[in-house]
Amino acid sequence: MYEEIFKDLNRFRELDAKYEDGNIFCSMCSKPLPITKKIVNLFLETNLGDSGLFKGTAQLEKETIKLLGEFLNNREAFGNIVSGGTEANLTALRVIKKMKGRNIILPKTAHFSFEKGKEMMDLNLIYASLNRDYTVDTKYVKEYVEDNKVDAIIGIAGTTEFGTIDNIKELTKIAKDNNIYIHVDAAFGGFVIPFLDKKIEFDFSLNIDSITIDGHKMALTPIPCGGILFKSEEYSKFLETDAFYLIEKKQTTILGTRPGYGAACLYTILKYFFDEIEKNVKKCLKNSIYLYKKLKENGYKPLMKPTLNIVNIEDENYLETCEKLKEKNYFVSVCKNANALRLVIMPHIEKEHIDKFIEVLKEVKP
Ligand SMILES: Cc1ncc(COP(=O)(O)O)c(C=O)c1O
Repeated sequence: MYEEIFKDLNRFRELDAKYEDGNIFCSMCSKPLPITKKIVNLFLETNLGDSGLFKGTAQLEKETIKLLGEFLNNREAFGNIVSGGTEANLTALRVIKKMKGRNIILPKTAHFSFEKGKEMMDLNLIYASLNRDYTVDTKYVKEYVEDNKVDAIIGIAGTTEFGTIDNIKELTKIAKDNNIYIHVDAAFGGFVIPFLDKKIEFDFSLNIDSITIDGHKMALTPIPCGGILFKSEEYSKFLETDAFYLIEKKQTTILGTRPGYGAACLYTILKYFFDEIEKNVKKCLKNSIYLYKKLKENGYKPLMKPTLNIVNIEDENYLETCEKLKEKNYFVSVCKNANALRLVIMPHIEKEHIDKFIEVLKEVKP
């Protein structure tokens, strides 16, 4: 019976693309650290939505937020381990709407999770133009904020399309000079930027209200694991819902019932395997430069030198190339703000996978 069940399930699983095949260049997730399998097992039935029952796991979530807060330069941070970048951004939008209002300026490169928030919360999103380097034009933001009613600014520390980092320091100054909220979406970049050779300010060392940072992107946790952190506990009042039938009467998350293993995995990795994150990030950054150089050597045009582990290739027919690569069983993605392909170099991508990719690219786009 047991054998039959897994035979049945494997039929489906076999249809999935596999990270270890080295042909997934479009995903911001990768294989989780092996120890997390055991952790998931240990916390499998825990429910952080019922923190009165799962007191230990709730305490563990708080410890995880503390570790994340320390990593982002704020020992006083308040927040939750959530299902990912989307839920984290939606949580920040909830606070923004209640605390300040519905007018939010954000870069054209902002992740589509903000569009979901717009629809759900009836927000007014103003998209700011970009500089030539695909970071937000802070001059545009400043002028718009000074001439119009704006309640919040959103900056992106590691854009989904390009891996570029908005000038968070300048955005924070504009926000604070105008008494408005600032949220930083560091879902992807949060676990990469601190390891770059060049120091870039993007976290609570600036006067930022909230930050999104994902475990299931560059911190090797299984899915789902994201983080939303606010400057202090003060912000919790904008999130609390009366959960009258539960032992613990208040909830600050969008989800009700939610797993505890994301927090447990991130806690373990931050506390005991921090060097693994660093090692993997550095490998990805190195491999991104390797791909960048290989592309140039072979006559392709990278859009720019990669900032993080995302490489873009200029291509007027990028949609067609993407499709042709898919036919060859190679998965890349495309940009919206440039005529370019987008490749994310995650820990499952090795140098030899890059060499193979270049050969396939030569076949579909000589
Ligand atoms: C910058 C950024 N924010 C938010 C998200 C959404 O994250 P998730 O897919 O975990 O909900 C992504 C995902 O790619 C992202 O790159």
